[in-house]
Amino acid sequence: MYCLGIESTADDFGVAILSFDGRVLSNANSAYMPEKGGIHPREAARHHAEVAGKVLAEAFERAGIKPQDVSIVAFSQGPGLGPCLRTGATAARALASYLRVPLVGVNHCVAHIEIGKLVTGAVDPVTLYVSGGNTIISAFEAGRYRVFGETLDIAIGNCLDVFAREAGMSQRKGAPFGAMVEELASRSKTFVPLPYTVKGMDLSFSGLLTAAVQILHERKHSLEDLCFSLQEVAFSMLTEVTERALAHTEKLEVLLTGGVAANKRLQSMLNVIAEEHNARFCVVPKEYALDNGAMIAWTGILAYKSKITLPVEKSFVKLKWRLDEVYAPWVEG
Ligand code: ATP
Ligand code: FE2
Repeated sequence: MYCLGIESTADDFGVAILSFDGRVLSNANSAYMPEKGGIHPREAARHHAEVAGKVLAEAFERAGIKPQDVSIVAFSQGPGLGPCLRTGATAARALASYLRVPLVGVNHCVAHIEIGKLVTGAVDPVTLYVSGGNTIISAFEAGRYRVFGETLDIAIGNCLDVFAREAGMSQRKGAPFGAMVEELASRSKTFVPLPYTVKGMDLSFSGLLTAAVQILHERKHSLEDLCFSLQEVAFSMLTEVTERALAHTEKLEVLLTGGVAANKRLQSMLNVIAEEHNARFCVVPKEYALDNGAMIAWTGILAYKSKITLPVEKSFVKLKWRLDEVYAPWVEG
């Protein structure tokens, strides 16, 4: 049996086909790249609608199966940008109705964790999910993925992106802002003090960003020194909260995912705390750490096996759907 999964929460439109035993037959994707500035939700949605047919065809072609072979259709129901979510949901509903197969609505954040577990073999980790739109420290407890800590304002990826844009960098395909900041940071060891804000178990990056941008415009420190310092402060904050979640839950694995997971400095900081707590450290490879259709398809399969499906008439998207609102009976088996 096969599940087709559609991801469309933000700038990516992804379609993947997975077998029920977790084999990825295809994982096709098309990313919307704004000319300048951040993502414009309606522009991104227009991109998704334009490429949907092509990405679907690519997913079927690479998987080597026919639409009639699909047993369920899963889609990212939230959280995300309204116009983008609706475009993916419309495609999923049309496909499920046409094929007369069940529809499954998947929470995007749960999906990041589930695909991370599938591809790294982690069973019950503390997860740090760090991307352009999210910063969440979570672990499973009593039927749900609980949020142990999260950002109170902007996401870490967004913080790095805005800083890079303010510094005049320009993003290219295959070279995200975060990777440019990482490269510049690797050339410095000079620490410029910046505000470190952890409140309880939650994080705040907006004051850090404002201060870094202000110092940047004063031109008293090099861009390399500022990139280095920004990373050191932001990643120390993330590491502190992850470590406290690990100490509290006594889990034996740390899972790092999302676009920022590619950062080597962040990986090494987390590796240290994982070792100190005798936990295994797992980094999700890029193909499955960035937004992708495979994570939606896989979580759709898990939910479906727990008898969770979604009637088309109730399949409205949920822009603010929190990770900890999702009942996840499949996790306890
Ligand atoms: P989500 O919907 O999950 O929030 P997104 O599309 O906003 O997803 P991702 O595609 O998961 O985010 O990740 C993009 C982010 O990852 C960007 O902020 C980018 O700068 C950052 N990033 C990519 N590579 C690196 C790196 N090497 N170091 C730090 N950040 C990185
Ligand atoms: Fe994501």
